[in-house]
Order: sequence, then C-alpha cells, then structure tokens
Amino acid sequence: MKGHAHGKIILIGEHSVVYGHPAIALPFKAGETRCRLETHSEDRITSPFYNGLLNDADETFAPIVLLIRTLRKALGIGPFNHVLESDIPVGAGLGSSAAIAAAIVRAYYASANVSLTDALLFKWVQYSEKNAHDNPSGIDALTVIHDHPWYFTKARKEPLDGRLDAFLVVADSQERTPTRDAVRHVASQQGTYRFNAAMEILSKRVIDSKAAYKDGDLLSLGKAMNQAMEALFSLGLSTKKLDALIKTAKMNGALAAKLSGGGMGGCMIALCENDVTARKVQNALEKNYGTRTWVTRI
Ligand code: PMV
Repeated sequence: MKGHAHGKIILIGEHSVVYGHPAIALPFKAGETRCRLETHSEDRITSPFYNGLLNDADETFAPIVLLIRTLRKALGIGPFNHVLESDIPVGAGLGSSAAIAAAIVRAYYASANVSLTDALLFKWVQYSEKNAHDNPSGIDALTVIHDHPWYFTKARKEPLDGRLDAFLVVADSQERTPTRDAVRHVASQQGTYRFNAAMEILSKRVIDSKAAYKDGDLLSLGKAMNQAMEALFSLGLSTKKLDALIKTAKMNGALAAKLSGGGMGGCMIALCENDVTARKVQNALEKNYGTRTWVTRI
C-alpha cells in the first residue's frame, strides 16, 4: 500500500507563527514524498537516507521510528519494509519531515483499510513533528496534507483564496541548521527589543500580505516579503549564502526575495512577476551558485 504527500513553502511569517502570529504557507507540489509498505519479516526502512532495520536506525530517525511504532500499535498491522522515496530536499525548510510523516500515515491507513480524515492525519503529522522539534506551530503539518494555501495562526486556520498569477523561484542554499536550533536561537532572544520589534513587523507584514494576496497585488506582497526578510535578518536567521542568493534574485528582476522556513540555511524564495523573469532569476542562481532551484506558479 502506498501514501504520498507534497512539500510546503512558507511565503511569509516563519518564526513569528511560533509565537501566535499569522503566517501564509503554500503547497510545494514540485516536491513529493512517497511511502510504500511491503510485507516483511521484520520492520525495516529502505530509503535514500537510511537502509536497515527500524531498531537499528540512529537518533536522526527517532521521530519516524516512533511514528511507525505508534502506527503499528494503533492499527495492529505490520511488520513492513517501509520504502521511502522523496524529491523534497531534507532539512531545507520545504516540509520534508512533515511530508515523510504524512506519506507514512496515509500508507498505513490505506493498508489497514481504515478511513483517515484530514483532522486525524493532521494530528498524526503534528505528533511526529513534535518529536522532531520542540514546539512546531503546525503550519508544516497542515500545508503538506492540503492542496491549497493557508492563512494560519495556531488558533485559527483559514484557507487562503486568491490568484496572484505570479511565480516563485525556490533555491536551496545547501546549508543546513535543524529547525529546532533555529527556533531555539529565536527563543533565546525573547524579551529583547530586537525580538519584540521583529515580531511586530512580521505580524503586520503577514496581515498586509493576506490582503495583497487576495487582491493579486504583487507589488505590495513583494514589499511585505522584503520587510519580513529584514526582520528575520535582525534575528540572526540569515547566512552569507542566503544573503547572496537574495541579492542575485533581486538583481535579476525578482520583486522580493527572502528565506523560507527555519532559516540559518535552507531555502530562499524569490517572487517574480512572470515566467521570463523567473527563468532569468533561476539561471542566474544556478550559474553563480550551482544551486538546486525550482520554479513554481502561485
Ligand atoms: O520546518 P521548517 O524549517 O520549514 O520551519 C518551520 C517554520 C518555523 O516557523 C520556523 C517553525 C514552526 O514550527 O512554525
């Protein structure tokens, strides 16, 4: 039996969303994770990240191992060889861990022939995300299991309508910091002027972005994204490489460019008015930095 899930892109509002402020996230359909369950004598994982018995997987796999053990108990099925495939880069802020969890849960429920509501799937993915980092807002879990954008706060989840008719270029900095560490880095600044100012800017710019998104107002959205990036920068979430990718994207015509996800590495997103500009930005990023890129319509 099989399950799959796409990735996610946080358009704006990462980190402040952890503190109850809003964020906007979009499905990242260019990246998908798949899980196939094959009946086997013992539980094992076959994947690009790890091949071997479930019991021998190291600490980095602990959230997945725990998820599988809990699913096995809850549904009373297995053991399986869990064949995992993914074209979402791991640890890059594109929702890879949530998508892996969602694909596994879907495969298990399909195998057990038990119906799975979106609410239950969200609970399972969020359970796995909690084991992966301290205090996940839930934005990853929600976005990887739905096909549309969300305006999200911890208290309220609102599907976001509107058609921007624009393009996002996504570029992988190839640098990695675990989301848990980036979230802790921000938490360590609580109570400072810098933290409060950044949260206020991020919150306001997300509200502006919601209106701009609904109106298809690209210029206002771009302005909000650039200001959000300044706030994320002030919190120490950028890197020299991300700064360079952002500069290159803007020099080649992007209306805005910012980090997306936990930051301190991971991915950059650049907002482009049309396909031609998006391709120009993509080519410049690939030529100058040899980085992996995707162009996605929003
Ligand atoms: O998992 P990432 O790296 O895409 O980061 C998720 C976004 C954060 O706001 C940094 C954390 C969260 O739980 O919302």
